[in-house]
Amino acid sequence: MTVTDAPAALPATAARTAEFISLTHLNPSTELQHQASRGIDLPYFRRYVRSLEDGGYDYTLLPYASVSADPYVLGGAVAALTENVKPIIAVRPNLGHPLVAAQKLATLDQVSEGRAVVHIISGGSDAEQARHGDYLSKDERYARTEEFISLLRRGWHDTEPFSHDGTYYKIDDFGPGFRPYGDTIPVSIGGSSDAAFEVGGRQADIFSFWGEPLADIAAQIERIHALADAAGRPRQRIWVTFRPIIAETDELAWQKAYRYADRLAANTQAGKAAIQRFLGQESPQNVGAQRALEFASRADVYDRALWTRTAAATGGTGASTALVGSPETVAAAILDYVDLGADLVSIRGYDTLNDAIDYGRYVIPLVKQELAHREQTGQRGTLQADHLGAYGADFPQVAGIA
Ligand SMILES: Cc1cc2nc3c(=O)[nH]c(=O)nc-3n(C[C@H](O)[C@H](O)[C@H](O)COP(=O)(O)O)c2cc1C
Repeated sequence: MTVTDAPAALPATAARTAEFISLTHLNPSTELQHQASRGIDLPYFRRYVRSLEDGGYDYTLLPYASVSADPYVLGGAVAALTENVKPIIAVRPNLGHPLVAAQKLATLDQVSEGRAVVHIISGGSDAEQARHGDYLSKDERYARTEEFISLLRRGWHDTEPFSHDGTYYKIDDFGPGFRPYGDTIPVSIGGSSDAAFEVGGRQADIFSFWGEPLADIAAQIERIHALADAAGRPRQRIWVTFRPIIAETDELAWQKAYRYADRLAANTQAGKAAIQRFLGQESPQNVGAQRALEFASRADVYDRALWTRTAAATGGTGASTALVGSPETVAAAILDYVDLGADLVSIRGYDTLNDAIDYGRYVIPLVKQELAHREQTGQRGTLQADHLGAYGADFPQVAGIA
């Protein structure tokens, strides 16, 4: 069966809702066009965050690196600048005591009236971890993550003082801790190694992926949900991440995509020494990035609109796979992932602020419209059948690869 004769009935895996995530940019510098900055350009940051609110985004990630701005402080600023956007705080367990992290996150949750989310980063590079004095192996880092998360939750939920004597933490007579605004704070885990799955299966409320081909994401979702079932826990919400490249038509979007890939490759080449220093080695140690590079080595285009040349051009660091096409094609491609059960969709462009505004105007409403139609009728709308992208017979001409 091809997508053109896909039934109107929805697959059993389809998520009924989808929420949108961005990544918080602090200044106008981008991977396409580097610009010198002291770090936070307040008017830009304010505008970026407000454009997320106006565009109907639900979350924004405050990422973490050893040289980055502090995500807790930025999360407080996001909460103050918006009414609805939920700050997702990237937390590396090596950077502080879990009960201190619990208290900071609960504070953010109260000051934002229940909007805090935590994204636990176990660390994908030994060299990067060593910059903050963390010398554990990756498997040990994930074991520490598991203990860290269980202590976060005890800090939020336990109603009596407790003591703890574990592998990584010893605590006497703590609590009860400072409570979140609501019942709890969602805990997300990012990672694709076996250890990430093991810990995520037992502990995560949300499990996050970079944008991979549909068949691979389907297998990953099945794997993490089977681990949740085995642990007797609710199945995780699934977060997938893309860097969409959109234009008025598919044809224009592909022209733009090739221009972007050339610029990204040139800028990556120019910044190669700095990137290698950051990674600590030639190729990435984290499995998510290794997978992105492997997909890129096998094919340029997957499924309806997934493009890997951006991953190849940037060495697979961070979110690097694109969705290319008109807003309709990209929205249809996002729905392909929603059909697999992904209900948290991270979309962040290469032209950061303009893209955030454009996605809010042209992509997010199409996905929401389709989901509203499904809710009312129990059937698929026509968007996916009408905008075939790379499934279409004319695709080689459209993408200029005939
Ligand atoms: C959606 C998403 C967001 C991420 N954000 C960060 C981040 O802000 N900082 C960071 O160091 N790693 C980040 N990572 C990377 C992984 O969490 C990290 O490399 C992982 O701990 C180890 O990777 P592995 O299990 O795939 O080998 C992110 C990963 C994903 C999927």
